[in-house]
Amino acid sequence: MKIMLFGTQPYDRESFDRLKSAYGFEICYHRSHLNANNAVLAQGADAVCVFVNDVVDAATIRQLSALGVKLIALRCAGFNNVDLNAAARYRIPVVRVPAYSPHAVAEHAVALMLALNRKVHRAYWRTRDGNFSLHGLLGFDMYGKTAGIIGTGKIARELIHILKGFGMEVLAHDIYPDEQYAAQAGITYVPLDELYARADIISLHCPLTDQTRYMIGDVAISHMKPGVMLINTGRGKLIHTEALIDGLKEKKVGSAGLDVYEEEAGYFYEDTSDRIMDDDVLARLLSFNNVIVTSHQGFFTREAVDNIARTTLDNVREFAEHRALTNEVCADPQHIVL
Ligand code: NAI
Repeated sequence: MKIMLFGTQPYDRESFDRLKSAYGFEICYHRSHLNANNAVLAQGADAVCVFVNDVVDAATIRQLSALGVKLIALRCAGFNNVDLNAAARYRIPVVRVPAYSPHAVAEHAVALMLALNRKVHRAYWRTRDGNFSLHGLLGFDMYGKTAGIIGTGKIARELIHILKGFGMEVLAHDIYPDEQYAAQAGITYVPLDELYARADIISLHCPLTDQTRYMIGDVAISHMKPGVMLINTGRGKLIHTEALIDGLKEKKVGSAGLDVYEEEAGYFYEDTSDRIMDDDVLARLLSFNNVIVTSHQGFFTREAVDNIARTTLDNVREFAEHRALTNEVCADPQHIVL
């Protein structure tokens, strides 16, 4: 099997190179993200391996199919960047890494919460500049506050475990509520409006789907508590960024911790520090002292990076050996137009 890895970062190369001899695969690495314009780079590959910002739409998949690519292996959990219907039409299976470390993302969400609440990002710069004033750094006890968690899958459950440890009350919302889990974890499922109205901190852990795209917009924000903290480690398009900016300007949103951004593809994972920023929305977000943007790094722990490489190579091996694909993601059969 020859695998063409797109969007390669040095840490990807390091972890895949370390493991590949045990699998006997040939791996080629490309720095660029896969899209319809450079899909030709996959020439000669049996599988392409992609991450969150590769564009695997119908046009890309058509080209991959023409080049003889037989498998799309995502080295991430979310698959919103792949047109599953097109993949099904061209009969190219799509596999992913469903869970590489839910702990990593949950802990990063907590890092954002604590940093925003206790203004660690501001205190860091102040003390380095000899400014030991506490003015403007007032936070709140997490103990006794209410967290609203949207989506209660693997990552959210780790987060809830940590937040319960702080002594927070947890309200949750999920399209498939798991009442047995709720009873066990001591949380309560509530309708979205109630979660918006009661939560001091709202954290997003559902996938990006047609239903969840821009779920946090003007209307949702208008229902939230004044001063609410919003945390997004899910996907950028869960939040309508301009609505968030309005909410921040009106002081309705008290702070925001964003590990993802709806137009992140042109910036995240790259050093653009020597360029003028041409994304005015991102520039405005970065201008708020109560907003922390991290570059989709929630997953980025040693353990998770190792799990990603290992599971991806296991996925490719299952395909190569014509076995059932444990981590296949399939299109909704009703939506496939063959
Ligand atoms: P999961 O599949 O275990 O859980 C997702 C949960 O969301 C499920 O309980 C599902 O029922 C629920 N859900 C689906 N549609 C919903 C809706 N319309 N409203 C409310 N809930 C809904 O997923 P997991 O592993 O917990 O990951 C969650 C998301 O986190 C992923 O989809 C991905 O976008 C993002 N992620 C971000 C990473 C980062 O580095 N920042 C790394 C890994 C995942």
